[in-house]
Amino acid sequence: MKNSQLVSIIFFVYATISSIGSINCRDNINLVTNQAALFVFGDSLFDAGNNNYIDTVSSFRSNIWPYGQTTFKQPTGRISDGRLIPDFIAENAWLPLIPPNLQPSNGNNQFIYGVTFASAGAGALVGTLPGMVINLGTQVNNFKNVEKSLRSELGNAVTKRVFSRAVYLFHIGGNDYFYPFSANSSTFQSNSREKFVDFVIGNTTSVIEELYEMGGRKFGFLNMGPYDCAPNSLIRDRTKIGSCFKPAAELIDMHNKKFPDVLRRLQSELSGFRYALHDYHTSLSERINNPSKYGFKEGKKACCGSGPLRGINTCGNRMGPSQSYELCGNVTDYLFFDSSHLTEKAHRQIAELIWSGQPNVTGPYNLKALFELQLT
Ligand SMILES: *[C@@H]1O[C@H](CO)[C@@H](O)[C@H](O)[C@H]1NC(C)=O
Ligand SMILES: *[C@@H]1O[C@H](CO)[C@@H](O)[C@H](O)[C@H]1NC(C)=O
Ligand SMILES: *[C@@H]1O[C@H](CO)[C@@H](O)[C@H](O)[C@H]1NC(C)=O
Ligand SMILES: *[C@@H]1O[C@H](CO)[C@@H](O)[C@H](O)[C@H]1NC(C)=O
Repeated sequence: MKNSQLVSIIFFVYATISSIGSINCRDNINLVTNQAALFVFGDSLFDAGNNNYIDTVSSFRSNIWPYGQTTFKQPTGRISDGRLIPDFIAENAWLPLIPPNLQPSNGNNQFIYGVTFASAGAGALVGTLPGMVINLGTQVNNFKNVEKSLRSELGNAVTKRVFSRAVYLFHIGGNDYFYPFSANSSTFQSNSREKFVDFVIGNTTSVIEELYEMGGRKFGFLNMGPYDCAPNSLIRDRTKIGSCFKPAAELIDMHNKKFPDVLRRLQSELSGFRYALHDYHTSLSERINNPSKYGFKEGKKACCGSGPLRGINTCGNRMGPSQSYELCGNVTDYLFFDSSHLTEKAHRQIAELIWSGQPNVTGPYNLKALFELQLT
């Protein structure tokens, strides 16, 4: 039996037994809120469909076939053939799929298990792709709206308990580090690279502190992956196809050196603050460089797209019908689904490392430990 089936059966049995002993509505609220919820912030790595509902250009949405072909059998807005990392985390935590916060309401308590605020293209800086995405600050404002509705549905005490037990999962920064190279970003030009990285980390830190003030205690992060070596980056210089994009690598490395220190500082300053940091740079680099070791045939070429390494982002005709694209025959052979996003198979592997990785892979806590952690 597949692990996912087992988990849902166990969950079903647990829910049934619990509801036999508790008929009234108050206990049902206790039942749902005894599970730690999952609140998700960030960019395309985590966007479960929010960009479907904002006013942006079609190339920032993935509500088109063949996105979603593997598991959902239809496009959902996730930028992959199937599930994303938070979908697997939710499954491991015995939670249902976590809905995008802009998805039209399907009734009461739809956000009791958590919400996804992530938006493809988003950065920590308001100046990154302005007007096209939901930036990190706006994601937090959306979280505050959810807080309001939970307070009115569940009351202040229960809402506070939901927030302190919940896990807050982040992936943000990659778009900030790429945007300056594709646009005339004044922030970047008038600042040193190091200062720019400090802005990205500083704005992320402000958000973490804000969520802590609102009751958040358990936080999960991925560091910056080797996005300089994604198919899209490998074809930036058409005279050197296959070499990574160095200017971005420099920012990514700086970020990955500085961010762990910031988290250690937060842990020492904020009582009860606990975190998991996954070394995504290492886990993704290993797969790009040794695909066969992890069950992939292709670590550098995308499954869906056009041009060299299918590194041009035309998957699903997202750049318009005149731009045709190729789709691979067997997506399970590929690490990358499109020019800069991974396949479901890759997401499953990375999610497993975030969930239960050793401290040298995900630490000081992994997500399993954070979900199980009882705070007093
Ligand atoms: C960027 O902006 C500067 C000053 O506004 C301008 O001189 C330059 O041509 C612009 N470069 C691009 C690539 O748009
Ligand atoms: C956030 O980023 C802006 C630039 O977009 C910068 O001026 C500001 O100082 C940053 N805030 C922090 C706390 O680093
Ligand atoms: C796809 O590839 C996997 C692993 O290489 C293999 O097990 C599977 O049978 C293939 N599926 C198809 C439809 O060819
Ligand atoms: C982490 O440690 C384990 C053993 O404790 C080792 O097998 C594994 O290779 C290490 N991983 C990394 C990325 O260093």
